[in-house]
Amino acid sequence: MTASSNLIINNSNPFEGKVSIPGDKSITHRAIMLSSLCNGTINISNALISDDCQHTINVCRELGANITIKEQIISVKGRGLNSLKKPKNKLYAGNSGTLMRIISGILAMQDFSSTISGDESLNTRPMKRIEDPLKMFGANIISENSMPPLLFKPSQNLKAISYTNNLPSAQVKSCLIFASLFVDGISVITEKIKTRDHTERLLEYLEYPISIKNNMINVSGKKSFKCKDLTIPSDISSAAFFIVAALIRKDSKLILKNIGLNKLRIGLIEILMEMGANIKIANQSIVCNEPIGDIEVQYSELKPINISGEKISTLIDELPILFIACATCKGISEFHDIEELRFKESDRIKSMEDGLNVLGIKTSSTTNSLKIFGDSFNGGIIDSNHDHRVAMSFIVAGTISKKPITVLNTKNISTSFPNFKNTINSIGAEVYEI
Ligand code: S3P
Repeated sequence: MTASSNLIINNSNPFEGKVSIPGDKSITHRAIMLSSLCNGTINISNALISDDCQHTINVCRELGANITIKEQIISVKGRGLNSLKKPKNKLYAGNSGTLMRIISGILAMQDFSSTISGDESLNTRPMKRIEDPLKMFGANIISENSMPPLLFKPSQNLKAISYTNNLPSAQVKSCLIFASLFVDGISVITEKIKTRDHTERLLEYLEYPISIKNNMINVSGKKSFKCKDLTIPSDISSAAFFIVAALIRKDSKLILKNIGLNKLRIGLIEILMEMGANIKIANQSIVCNEPIGDIEVQYSELKPINISGEKISTLIDELPILFIACATCKGISEFHDIEELRFKESDRIKSMEDGLNVLGIKTSSTTNSLKIFGDSFNGGIIDSNHDHRVAMSFIVAGTISKKPITVLNTKNISTSFPNFKNTINSIGAEVYEI
């Protein structure tokens, strides 16, 4: 796609067929980082090769890992927990909050200095949530207003900690688990609300000493991993756009294979089923300690929904596309406890509300809630605010809109789903660059 990448979407025919969904972004980031800390080579299959994950590869290379990519397999040769070297350059995380926050748990614990920054959007995202607990480990972090760039300096006083994470954030939890690997003793990380547990599952799979009891995670520092090849499930957060596309376009039926079905990530499927969606899961199995399965989804008449509380963290990245699904229902849908959406790649409550209003959908919002008054979509011009999930959500809306929808600034789709346009066009959509 070109630099600005504006897209126009026409009303589409029904969708039918099998869709190939790329590897899970959250797990790919973690797999690359953890493999870089192993002593040996790990081949990562079905990895997501996207802008965000490429930044993780670049950062891990700067830190000394030898990483090659061949036909969707990333091979990472690490030299052990204590092998990282001082990067020659300032590290760059691009648009990826996950990379910046998780790798900070590694950088803060090294005996060399480093700096990491991001793009314009990432450099405005809050980092206090990782800075405060990392400082409890004894880390030495310098930033302005707790926003990137972050400067890490060596510290003589690193120690294991006990910390309760009140914010439901898997990035924060994972940052602290990574930091725990580098200190003597056992660190205890407790979550008030459970969030995606991919880091914990990967560590268990690589036979690293970690124990999990309810919401409490115990991590022993300075132990070693077993080098084992990894297969990444396909990303439920990317599948989400196709699930909703099939549900809202009459006569559609899609099959999505080998999708990650981690119970802390499937809130969208559970909610859509409550809304009346015809979704079936088949061929369930476990791959590298993660549950996967095939999703079969058919057009369904959906009812509005009211969601709040712990459910939110199980579908946090799927809220933009769920808003689109709700906007097609007769009646009012309500979302509460969603303030975290204001701190994503864009303020997703605002981006989605603005876009829905352009399409003729009424909404009302507070700092941490959104009400959507379902109706049909008129066309219009929508700014995705350089947010990949907002862009893909409105592309899906365009497939059932009465008049075409133009979505501006869609380049960042390549952070999570580089082939999205071709994939949706391959099942019958009409999405063109303008
Ligand atoms: C992620 C955690 C979530 C999610 C993000 C990926 C992860 O962020 O929104 O896209 O891989 O850990 P928070 O930890 O901020 O909730």
